[in-house]
Amino acid sequence: MAKLRDSTIFLVGSLFLSCFSGLILSATVTLDSIEIYNTHEILKAVKPEVYFRCKGENKTDLPDVKNANELYKFKGEESWQPLTEFLDKKCKRCGFYEKDTFKSDDVFDEWEFCPSEFTADGKYIKIKDKEVNATFSCLECIPSTTASNSTSDSRKRGNRMHVALIILIIVLVSTVLILGLIAVYKYWQKKKREQDQARFLKLFEEGDDIEDELGLGIVI
Ligand SMILES: *[C@@H]1O[C@H](CO)[C@@H](O)[C@H](O)[C@H]1NC(C)=O
Ligand SMILES: *[C@@H]1O[C@H](CO)[C@@H](O)[C@H](O)[C@H]1NC(C)=O
Repeated sequence: MAKLRDSTIFLVGSLFLSCFSGLILSATVTLDSIEIYNTHEILKAVKPEVYFRCKGENKTDLPDVKNANELYKFKGEESWQPLTEFLDKKCKRCGFYEKDTFKSDDVFDEWEFCPSEFTADGKYIKIKDKEVNATFSCLECIPSTTASNSTSDSRKRGNRMHVALIILIIVLVSTVLILGLIAVYKYWQKKKREQDQARFLKLFEEGDDIEDELGLGIVI
């Protein structure tokens, strides 16, 4: 019984591993720094309203970014962070834009944002001449296949550890659940046996009573 249970757990675990290896569960992207070189405003006194958006997602306003040629650094904990999230290896169409009231919004840059383009230390720099220089951070993104140095290896190992931990939790929870069900079933069986026994004894006693009556009848 125990052997069967252990091998079942092992099987389920390996199944989960083969499903999840090479898949990112969820990788958040934060903005490390940004510098704009152009405000797209004719009147230089007008402050730009810069925002980031990926196609099909909500826009993220960058309220601090007001001046051209000034480097803005972020900690990744700002109220508007993270910028976006990768759920798999697929790229997203994203960009930095500037809100305009009377015409369509200006584009600093729009590009295919891919989790595979982050370097082994989880950084990605997007530079467009005369427009923008932005640095992104994504610690859970896959490093590009060309970068196969020791840091990327240790990152991969970290990802695998993460997945292993999730599997361990799933297996533990299911084991507890199965053991609980077995216990409930055993308890129910015991109760039922007791009830059967009680019913049988009662029947037996009733049978005795009838016999007594019959016995009496015979004597009389
Ligand atoms: C986008 O914004 C709307 C309304 O502001 C909100 O209900 C929705 O949950 C947001 N979606 C995401 C993915 O953040
Ligand atoms: C872009 O910004 C990063 C981070 O501040 C900086 O290291 C890099 O030198 C900048 N690149 C250019 C071309 O200005």
